[in-house]
Amino acid sequence: MISTENILLETPTPEPPVDEAWDVERIRDDFPVLRQTVNGKPLVYLDNAASSQVPQVVVDRGARYLEEEHSNIHRGVHYLSMRATTAYEGAREKVKRFLNAREAKECIFVRGATEGINLVMHGYGRKFVSEGDEVIVSAMEHHANIVPWQMLCEEKGARLRVIPMNDAGELLLDEYDALLNERTKIVAVNHISNALGTVNPVKEIIATAHKHGVPVLVDGAQSAPHLAVDVQDLDCDFFVLSGHKMFAPTGSGIIYGKAEWLERMNPFQGGGDMIRSVTFEKTTYAGLPTKFEAGTPAIASQIGLGAAIDYLNSIGRERAVAYEKELLAYATAKISAIEGVRIIGTAREKASVLSFVIEDVHPHDIGTILDQEGIAVRAGHHCAQPVMQRLKVPATARASFAFYNTKEEADALAGAIEKVIEVFS
Ligand code: ALA
Repeated sequence: MISTENILLETPTPEPPVDEAWDVERIRDDFPVLRQTVNGKPLVYLDNAASSQVPQVVVDRGARYLEEEHSNIHRGVHYLSMRATTAYEGAREKVKRFLNAREAKECIFVRGATEGINLVMHGYGRKFVSEGDEVIVSAMEHHANIVPWQMLCEEKGARLRVIPMNDAGELLLDEYDALLNERTKIVAVNHISNALGTVNPVKEIIATAHKHGVPVLVDGAQSAPHLAVDVQDLDCDFFVLSGHKMFAPTGSGIIYGKAEWLERMNPFQGGGDMIRSVTFEKTTYAGLPTKFEAGTPAIASQIGLGAAIDYLNSIGRERAVAYEKELLAYATAKISAIEGVRIIGTAREKASVLSFVIEDVHPHDIGTILDQEGIAVRAGHHCAQPVMQRLKVPATARASFAFYNTKEEADALAGAIEKVIEVFS
């Protein structure tokens, strides 16, 4: 790898003091996309669980790479390549601090959580899972944390086991305990359900699996943007996140893995950069993290992810989390008070997501009418069809919040839901 020692790494942004008030209007100014009208109404963006918005500083950082640094990483001895490499590896350092990983090499850049889970399925699963083995997922996974494991089980003759949940959308941990046995090879669970908003007790889930010597993958696609995550404290073996759900561009993301696992795993994809030497007889692989980063990565996007982490640090993670919690409680009270509306997902611990149905109205119709009011929500099965089957609803409408949303926007959502009910009454 090219030495970048003589190029300065960008310095991390310090967090503001926690007692500073949350100035949501000032925060909103950071997000250019929010300054627009849709169907003649101010945009109310409540689809953050699908993709969150990108602050100007992240746009600017991506543009700076394209305008001043664009070149390939790790390969060039020239100035631009070294600058790009420094920025890219600097982003990895930021991710390491953000997740509190032990080492930056435990943070592998991927396109998002889906690719991260597929990397573990191929690298760990195809090596360590055999016929008769078992893989445990939960009843509230989205397809990204079901389908790869099903493919693995099909290929290996292994069995997929599912931790059940109650009607509120909480996992039944006693039943989870009973599922673990000597055939279990991995547990893969989400930290926050994208369809229900449940915050799962992943620390406990991990500790239980570890008693059986079983590694755990935490799907943090919904948690990394909305909770402080410390992978060492959780003691998870793998943790995946998607940049586009945490204020960074699409194509950015991370799979964190404990080095002791990543070292033992097979590479995911073959190609340039992930090798130490290649002959027609044999290829040997590079060390971490490059062993898992074949080909030219999404350099601009991953640098953007680093900038998004700087941004999150600059506004204060703790205050953002506290504000989102307050906003979700406000919106939940407001919307559940409307006659004919039923909240889907009523777990005690929730974050960011408010799924609901309206009696006799299809969620797609809700989504379409809300869009006419300038309100963006997701309507459908949220790539989590088994959740819908378990809770016996065909689909839901889902409002999902970020720290730039306001109580006025929650009021606008409530007002628009009342209009939907009027139209269908
Ligand atoms: N998993 C994403 C969502 O929940 C796509 O919308």
